[in-house]
Amino acid sequence: MSVIKLIDKDGVSHILDAVEGWRVMEIIREHGFDVGGLCGGACSCATCHVDVDGAWASKLVPANDDEEAMLDEVPVAGPSSRLSCQIIYSPELSGLTVRLVANG
Ligand code: FES
Repeated sequence: MSVIKLIDKDGVSHILDAVEGWRVMEIIREHGFDVGGLCGGACSCATCHVDVDGAWASKLVPANDDEEAMLDEVPVAGPSSRLSCQIIYSPELSGLTVRLVANG
C-alpha cells in the first residue's frame, strides 16, 4: 500500500493514496487539501511548506541549497520544515507523515 499521512491545519489526520514519482505537494493537492504550490513545484514560492514527522526526516533526500534558501524566507519554518514539492514520493516512503502549516 502506498500512502502518506497528512495532518491538516486543524490537527486532523488523513491517509492519502500516494503515487510513485509524484511530488508530495501534488499528492496533497490531488486529495483536495490547500497546500499552496503556487509555483507548481519550481522551488520558488515556499507556499507548499510542511513539517515532516521526526521519524521520517532522516529517510528523505536532504534539502538542497535552493530549498534551504526558500525555507529561510518562511518565518514559521523550523528544523523539521520541508517544501513538499521537493519530496518525490517513492514506495519506501509509504507512511510518510507530514503536517500542513500556516505560512503566516
Ligand atoms: S510549490 Fe512552490 S516551492 Fe513548492
